[in-house]
Amino acid sequence: MPIQTTSKIWHNGTLIPWEQATLHVMSHVIHYGSSVFEGIRCYGQPHGSAVFRLPEHMQRLLDSAKIYRMELPYTLEELCAGVVDVIEANGVTPCYIRPIVLRGYGEIGVSPKGSPIEVYIANFPWGKYIAGHGGADVCISSWNRLAPNTLPSLAKAGANYMNSQLIHMEAEVNGYQEGIALDVNGLVSEGSGENVFIVRNGVLYTPPLANSALSGITRDSVLTIARHLGLTVIEQSLPRELLYIADEVFFTGTAAEVSPIHSIDRIVIGDGKPGEITKSIADEFFGIANGLRPDRFGWLTPVKVNATEPVGV
Ligand SMILES: Cc1ncc(COP(=O)(O)O)c(C=O)c1O
Repeated sequence: MPIQTTSKIWHNGTLIPWEQATLHVMSHVIHYGSSVFEGIRCYGQPHGSAVFRLPEHMQRLLDSAKIYRMELPYTLEELCAGVVDVIEANGVTPCYIRPIVLRGYGEIGVSPKGSPIEVYIANFPWGKYIAGHGGADVCISSWNRLAPNTLPSLAKAGANYMNSQLIHMEAEVNGYQEGIALDVNGLVSEGSGENVFIVRNGVLYTPPLANSALSGITRDSVLTIARHLGLTVIEQSLPRELLYIADEVFFTGTAAEVSPIHSIDRIVIGDGKPGEITKSIADEFFGIANGLRPDRFGWLTPVKVNATEPVGV
């Protein structure tokens, strides 16, 4: 989907026009993939709008930067305030927010020391990410997720998404909406941009972070909601074939939200319809995000912009 532009982008503490948020082709990030970033959603509320789990996202951005020795001159509070400022300046909600920290124009060698750290925060409208009415048709990718001690999975780094692109492109050319990658030991890891959950015999399972999965904020939200609903939740390594015989499988992610999976490698999951547990978790997730259920876990940061689309679950 083409990017729908807004008016301003936050750059190193000030709001600049969207068109001026440009980089020189010789910037470090362009040659070596040296960026860390976030994806966040802001939802319309019955009154105003709210960013979903803003401090958690910005803390993950700081963590990603720390792993790559990128020193940020901004605190968690300043970064969160930057997100609210840019949304309010642009006046567009619901929206997706893309903060990015990158190594800019300075030196050409691999060493990043002489290249300045630049921070940008953009926001723009972005709708549903995973297509597929009644659930996505996905495949197991022939590409593995990042091996431990190669590119760190807990850092949400731009470079990781070269692997994600391989997974996603392979799925698309073969007629699937998305791919699920295994880790280097053949255990379930994650989608190209989503965590994976399985329901079997009423129990909710998801792979642990040690299976090369990103520490998803939506993953954490779903684990919290599931425990609140009284479900048994188990984080354990999952063999590939457990996906095929699961009663329900779904993706989670900021872009994907909670997205049911209809089939994997053309094997239909359960009875082929979004399952009851997936639905009850999704209802609570969207209910909280859209301000239609109590914000019982303190996940919403209000912004003073009225949503331009009707609020819906
Ligand atoms: C590779 C990968 N895994 C999982 C996720 C889900 O993470 P979150 O729920 O924080 O968006 C994402 C999206 O950010 C991702 O890119």
